[in-house]
Amino acid sequence: MRRMLMILGMFGLEACDQADSDSTTSPTQSVPGPPPNPIKFEFQRLTPDLLVGPRPSPEQIAELSTLGIQKVISVDALPPESSLWGKSIRVRHLPLGYRDLPQTLQLRLARELATDPVKTYVHCHHGKHRGPAAALAALRTLDQLDQAEAMVWLDRCGVEYQGLRDAVQNAKPESIDKIQAATPLEEVAATRSLSRLMAEIDQVWDRLKKVPSPEDPVARTQKEDASQLVDLFRLSSESAGPVDPAYPRQMREAIDLATELETQVQLGQDAAQIRAALRASCRACHRAFRD
Ligand code: HEC
Repeated sequence: MRRMLMILGMFGLEACDQADSDSTTSPTQSVPGPPPNPIKFEFQRLTPDLLVGPRPSPEQIAELSTLGIQKVISVDALPPESSLWGKSIRVRHLPLGYRDLPQTLQLRLARELATDPVKTYVHCHHGKHRGPAAALAALRTLDQLDQAEAMVWLDRCGVEYQGLRDAVQNAKPESIDKIQAATPLEEVAATRSLSRLMAEIDQVWDRLKKVPSPEDPVARTQKEDASQLVDLFRLSSESAGPVDPAYPRQMREAIDLATELETQVQLGQDAAQIRAALRASCRACHRAFRD
């Protein structure tokens, strides 16, 4: 098993190194390395047939296609952009949150990997948290990784959210019957209406609108909530809304503000100003388009 981990590790590091080759100095420069990896963005090769990374741009999709990817699974709020991937690529959508990774969803992903074992790219938004965690939990469920290997990968991929880390740590091999009994993945998960998304935004925003004091229970999930807010605004921007050119612009601004809030919260800042700017953005859009 250790040998396996080393081999997997080499693949992973190879991918990582490519992502920031400028800052990487190899201690073994005299030894010929592997041929250069043409992919210039950060993805991880968990197994020869299972890659995880960020939502790819059109150029990155073209690069991934050269690796022989046959299926793409988005665990982001938004489905894969099937029009960019081309007809021959199968797409699946399993939207995940940042707080936890329920076992029913782990089993569904494991079922997909087991019943149709083709070269697969799993992506979330940034490629660091949900995608790697989901793929690792599924590999554990399928008994293709042991727990120690999974923990090494969690760190290497940079999975930070505690609920996702716990899910991978607690995932364990399941019987093939149980895996086969899981619900198959959909090509595109059902969409929610704008008013439903706004109601969800409201709940998350309730935990984010004020800088919490350290003993406030909402202080513990600020990172998860900030990431979730970005997701919900991204989904809202895809959902049918008011027909007015100013509306998508305001939505774009809200996404940018929420993304900035996510960044600041992740850096451990109180983000008081950006919270105030977001509050103003909710009000401005409602004044123009709801009230
Ligand atoms: C770019 C525009 C825009 C932004 C930004 C925006 N909203 Fe909304 N919101 C809407 C629109 C449009 C509706 C009405 C949706 C409908 O009823 O179809 C709405 C509805 C709502 C509702 C009522 C949902 C229901 O039950 O019908 C709530 C609550 C809400 N928004 C909360 C928020 C909060 C909190 C924020 C900021 C963190 C926010 N919104 C930011 C456009 C926006």
